[in-house]
Amino acid sequence: MTIPIPPLVQRPAWAALQAHQKKIAPMHLRKLFADDPNRAERFTLASCGIYLDYSKNRISDETMGLLVQLAEQSGLRERIQAMFRGEHINVSENRAVMHVALRAPRGISMFVDGANVMPQVHEVLDKMSDAATRIRSGDWKGHTGKRIRNVVNIGIGGSDLGPVMAYEALKHYSERSMTFRFVSNVDATDFSEAVRDLDPAETLFIIASKTFTTLETMTNARAARAWSVQGLKVDASGEQGAVAKHFVAVSTNAAEVSKFGIDVTNMFEFRDWVGGRYSMDSAIGLSTMLAIGSDAFRDMLAGFHAMDEHFRETPLERNLPALMGLLCVWYADFFGAQTVGVMPYSQYLKRFPAYLQQLTMESNGKHVTLDGRTVDYETGAVFWGEPGTNGQHSFYQLIHQGTKLIPVDLIGFAKTLNPLGDHHDILMSNVFAQAEALAFGKSEKEVRAEGTADAVVPHRIFEGNRPSNVLLAEELTPHALGALVALYEHSVFVQGTVWGINSFDQWGVELGKALAQRIIPELTSEAEPELAHDSSTNALIRRYRAMK
Ligand code: F6P
Repeated sequence: MTIPIPPLVQRPAWAALQAHQKKIAPMHLRKLFADDPNRAERFTLASCGIYLDYSKNRISDETMGLLVQLAEQSGLRERIQAMFRGEHINVSENRAVMHVALRAPRGISMFVDGANVMPQVHEVLDKMSDAATRIRSGDWKGHTGKRIRNVVNIGIGGSDLGPVMAYEALKHYSERSMTFRFVSNVDATDFSEAVRDLDPAETLFIIASKTFTTLETMTNARAARAWSVQGLKVDASGEQGAVAKHFVAVSTNAAEVSKFGIDVTNMFEFRDWVGGRYSMDSAIGLSTMLAIGSDAFRDMLAGFHAMDEHFRETPLERNLPALMGLLCVWYADFFGAQTVGVMPYSQYLKRFPAYLQQLTMESNGKHVTLDGRTVDYETGAVFWGEPGTNGQHSFYQLIHQGTKLIPVDLIGFAKTLNPLGDHHDILMSNVFAQAEALAFGKSEKEVRAEGTADAVVPHRIFEGNRPSNVLLAEELTPHALGALVALYEHSVFVQGTVWGINSFDQWGVELGKALAQRIIPELTSEAEPELAHDSSTNALIRRYRAMK
């Protein structure tokens, strides 16, 4: 029998954390470190090739103990098991949440609605591997007999951000004789610029859409088909044959795929128990596999799986995603932090913050609990970031000396994939320096000791006491990327569990979509339309029509 979970603010650990925060808030990290020579040792953790130093957070042993209690009282352990058991934890869509099955190795059984989903997962992976081998080797010929050299992924949200992030992250391992492009925006510029220097005879389009109805993706997909057919100079009778060689689909919706004109033999399927933002390991990762090959893709899945197992098996006090998620809750709900900065010190991870924005904010940007009650506490923070060191010369000023508390994750790698002089040591020195500067700052005494003029002293003081996590891995390999992404996925789950919200639906995106559908004919009609919006929207539409 499961014990009902009280609302968050009535859980005993919540009140205890509120009282405890009053004790911790005035304490400076300088003192916490000075009083405890073993602090760095105790507040570090390593698993799945990721080393997390969370000692520069505004925490004590008591804080972590209480946060773990909060997780226990929120039913986190049971929720983790429920997810892995394939229960319909996405209640508002009545779906299981089983992205963990996508990266489970052969031989394991995982069930959704009584059926073992693993045979199908591996069947799709094998079909992807087969296509990847044929395309990468040049066996897959285009309509004119030329090999495929260009791959354009058309998708948006989870059907774009994971693939483009992974492609960029793993570019080092990619097939350099091929070109990969990603088109997401319905702004025609995106498509036009992506294909302007490509030969249609050598170009394969992946139409990636879970639903195969998304306006942006279908608009771009139609443009791609027209570009392809025109470029290949095929007439209506040859169109279907040409499309079969230059288009593949990734979707859950076979009916819409064939309606579009893509033969379902060229369709790579996944199921509705994979959320869009959790789908980069599904067939949605086809572009990644084409770029890095099947073996490297499977290494990436192994990295995900290692973190899945760690998350499922490890006690919460030594559990990486649990601790990272709980620290997000700590700052959001007890320090009023509105945002979290994620700064990868790796150029290859330049799209990682954008990817994380969908993962975190589409998941935890919710204001009602699973049973529909409006929350009376803060939920998901705004996630943002840029690769270091670029951010340091831009917005880090505000993190160091502004009035807002912004916890940051600094991500670095011990080895570079591009050894060049002392670049990498310089890069990594900045990771450590930023974490140190944020935590310890620079006191008035130190500023004065440098002979600073009185009037300038206040400007040069760094208050410090600004929290950070440092995440270190040995090298940016496919395995390391998988472990890192899974770490954040599960951290999101932990936060959502504590907040009692559904991290797996996204109803908040629907209203704008519906309104856009209503407005499209008002923009395109020849005759002046009757407008029944508010006065502002009416005026904007009229002005646009007059100006266009
Ligand atoms: O609009 C939001 C969303 O539904 C995301 O959750 C999803 O990743 C994206 O649109 C794309 O959806 P689809 O893969 O069905 O085209």
